[in-house]
Amino acid sequence: MTLELQHAMKATPTADEAARGRFVSGIRSFILNDLAADLGHAYQTRAAPKFRAANGHDPKTSGDAHKALRGDPAFNIYSSMRVQAQKMVWASVSAGVERDAKRLAELEAQTAGQPGSVQLKPDFIPPRNASAVDVHLMPGSYTGGEGMAAGAVYDRGLAVFSMGLMGSNLDDIGLSMAAYIKRRYPEFAPTAMLDTGCTIGHNSLPWKHAYPEAKLTAIDVAAPGLRYGSTRAKLQGVEADFVQMASDELDFPDASFDLVFSSMFLHELPKKVRAKTIAEAYRVLRPGGLMLHMELPPNGQMAPFEAFYLDWDSYYNNEPYYKGYRDEDPKAVCESGGFGADDYFQFVVPSIGIYGDEAVTQAATSDAAHAVGAETTGRLAEGVMWFGFGAWKR
Ligand SMILES: C[S@@+](CC[C@H](N)C(=O)[O-])C[C@H]1O[C@@H](n2cnc3c(N)ncnc32)[C@H](O)[C@@H]1O
Repeated sequence: MTLELQHAMKATPTADEAARGRFVSGIRSFILNDLAADLGHAYQTRAAPKFRAANGHDPKTSGDAHKALRGDPAFNIYSSMRVQAQKMVWASVSAGVERDAKRLAELEAQTAGQPGSVQLKPDFIPPRNASAVDVHLMPGSYTGGEGMAAGAVYDRGLAVFSMGLMGSNLDDIGLSMAAYIKRRYPEFAPTAMLDTGCTIGHNSLPWKHAYPEAKLTAIDVAAPGLRYGSTRAKLQGVEADFVQMASDELDFPDASFDLVFSSMFLHELPKKVRAKTIAEAYRVLRPGGLMLHMELPPNGQMAPFEAFYLDWDSYYNNEPYYKGYRDEDPKAVCESGGFGADDYFQFVVPSIGIYGDEAVTQAATSDAAHAVGAETTGRLAEGVMWFGFGAWKR
């Protein structure tokens, strides 16, 4: 169910809008839990055996699993309902955002003098991957609409989309990742941190809570989210600089940061931009610094059905770079960006909101890591766990 956002920029929905949001979250939960289980069953009992009979071998890849499932009634129902529900997510919040435009602008003006900043570049042209496609079917993508509207649509839409799994401030990923790193590497004490592709900064802020002495900079190419995110942060009393900048062409000098991180970001970049983003992270890190990405788990570490289950978005949810990203080996990508092979690491962290603090501590301090292939890794459904990878700069 939708968890009501708990911050000053949250919506004040009409009764109909609130009911609509709850309905869409409920439908999504039914699709991503119940229908997903039916899809898995149909794959095992119908689609994979049929594929085997036709090809003389089991499905070996995400692509094979897709071929096996295409045309199966369970797949058709799952996919058509998911596409419709995705469109309903954004539709359920758009009228409320429009109505709220004046109040949001007032909040921005009222907080202008508070610690933190938003730095926009009037001549900046956002790259086409963020502007030319309605990414995850979000109308206007990250750059469309008036003023801060796209930021507000993202915030409120994500609350409906995530069915309560990301918490009432949508920061479960940031909280889980920061808690994991703090406990796994207690000696790590960054003084300057950079979030790349922050959107509205919902997963940037937990890092400032984890390392209050460190300066937090959050960049993105889309102005609406930066403006909205900066105001959102100020209203929560968190100091951060939101800057319009591309991750693959950072304006910072070499060795500027101890931590360069992102969440749910790399899979929205074209391959060359992603490679450059990693190389730029390496350049701006100080020796001893850490690059860290929360992302979807790689296909190479998953069984065909589980791999395709996540790749679905690339085909049906306007995520053109998703599968290309998931087909890459993150370790190899880090190495080509300049990081040493031995300095790479990856992990799966249980959602702190769902499994609790103790489970994160256990994951961070035990060698018996959760397996990437586990069904709940990267799946927005009951029991979600987050995949992360990173590398130290020596
Ligand atoms: C899925 S959102 C990131 C979500 C967010 N980090 C989170 O924690 O949920 C992807 C973001 O990347 C931004 N973006 C796309 N290309 C970029 C680039 N080259 N540099 C910086 N940001 C970029 C988009 O504008 C969008 O806000």
